[in-house]
Formats: sequence, C-alpha cells, structure tokens
Amino acid sequence: MPEKYAVMGNPISHSLSPLIHQLFAKQTGLTLTYEKIQIDLPRFEQQVSEFFTQGGKGLNITLPCKQQAFTISQKRTSRCLEASAANTLWMQEGYLYADNTDGIGLLRDLNRHVNIRDKKILLLGAGGAARGILGPLLAAYPAQLTIANRTLKKAQILQQDFPKTNYCTFDDLKHKQYDIIINATSASLDGKNLELPEQLMSTQPFCYDLAYKKNQPTAFVAWAKRYDCRAIDGLGMLIEQAAEAFFIWHGIMPNTAAIVESL
Ligand code: ATR
Repeated sequence: MPEKYAVMGNPISHSLSPLIHQLFAKQTGLTLTYEKIQIDLPRFEQQVSEFFTQGGKGLNITLPCKQQAFTISQKRTSRCLEASAANTLWMQEGYLYADNTDGIGLLRDLNRHVNIRDKKILLLGAGGAARGILGPLLAAYPAQLTIANRTLKKAQILQQDFPKTNYCTFDDLKHKQYDIIINATSASLDGKNLELPEQLMSTQPFCYDLAYKKNQPTAFVAWAKRYDCRAIDGLGMLIEQAAEAFFIWHGIMPNTAAIVESL
C-alpha cells in the first residue's frame, strides 16, 4: 500500500501541491498518494485527526487554517513556534508534530533571484503569511525590514513580536525607497491591487509576490512590471516549501530546480 499524504485547505481545488509532491516522488523513486481535502471549518480538528487515524502519514495545511494547525499540534519546531502557524503536520511517537516551511521556502526561492543581506526590505501585509516569513527574513541580515499594512494596529502588533522590524501604513511609504518589496497581503488572491504610492517604484525595487496564479501574473506582479521592476510570483516558494515538507516526511531532499523548470 502506498503511503498516504494530503493537503487541506479551503478553497483547495486550485492547489498544485499534489502535482508537486508526485513530481518529487517520481524524481526520488517513491510511491505515494497525495490528495486534496477541502476543510470544513468547524470540523477542521476532527478532519486532521481522522486523516491520521486512517493511516495518513503527512499533511500540508494551507489557508485559512495554518494558525489552527499550530494550535492543535502537540510538538512544534522552533521555526513553527516563531511563526505561530503550521503548514506541515505528521505523527511521531504518538504526538502530532508541526513545522512551518514557508519561511525557508521563501528564502530559498528569493536567493535564486536576489541577495537579501544588507538590503532594505519592505514587507506588505501583517497577517498570517507575513508572520510566517519574518523570522527567516530577519535571519538573512537585511539592513532594514519595514512592515507596512493597511491597518496600522496589526502592523504594530507584529512589530512587537519582531522588534528588529519597524512598521508604518501604506501612506507613510510616499517618500521611502526600498531594494526589495515582498507582498504578503491576501489582495493578490482576490485579484485586487494595493493602494501603494507610485514614488515607491521610482528606484525600481525587486518585487516578490507570495501569491501565485496559474498561467497569469498576479495583480501585484502585473503592477510592478508596469514600472519596469523585476517581479516574481510565489511559484518557486510553493515548490521550495513543499520540498522541505517532503524532506521532513521522507528524509530525501528533491531537486527543486528541475521541478521549477518543468512547471
Ligand atoms: P493571510 O493568512 O493570508 O496573511 P490574513 O491573516 O487575513 O491572511 O491577512 C491578510 C493581510 O492582507 C492583512 O495584512 C490585510 O490587511 P488588513 O490587516 O488591513 O486587513 C491584507 N490585505 C488583504 N486585502 C487587502 C487589500 N485589498 N489592500 C491592502 N491590504 C490587504
């Protein structure tokens, strides 16, 4: 019987995780099943428990339950604790273990395109996605990391948990310049543009969107390209975070460059 894996989320039909994990499995000579499971919000904890009691070996969790996955887990890695959110679950010695591979996934993909060390970074958004990547970003020694959010209060709360950052509203960005802008808002998922000042783009920062859209640029990538900026969507991060989860479950690190190329 092949080992059973899955990704849970809501919505989930668009997820590329089954394809990515099957490509990894093929590449590394493993046989496994990897399905998509639609989360029924009030039953999330029960769905996770049923998956493992029915022999499931590993689960990826995506929006909107990464924080809940963290809450229901019993053992957490340090990067999972730092993010207060989990995207990778597995059972070990009778405990539900949780990790968060989003931050390392982002870093690995960013490193393909740009050097973060000593750069001025602007992080847009202060929700779960932003929280999940702040620790690994700070560990890469940027010169400065600013969190800008539509709702100032949420940026302030996040800043308190990561004191090496500073925070502001989108309006405050009018006369600021950055080397790298990372979009961690959920606006791209809804196809919405952010209300950012044009001046921000005058020095043509490198732009990265955590979101990814099949066969078309995200709203943020399209917007950045209008200002002749280099702009990349989150497909590479998706593949890298999946590779790290694959490594946790199987002890083998797949060759991600080949998969990025093929997708
Ligand atoms: P996620 O887990 O994807 O981060 P979240 O925790 O709901 O989801 O956070 C969504 C983030 O996207 C927030 O920072 C939100 O800004 P607010 O705190 O002001 O709500 C941001 N966001 C979503 N849609 C946005 C939009 N149209 N313009 C600006 N920010 C937006």
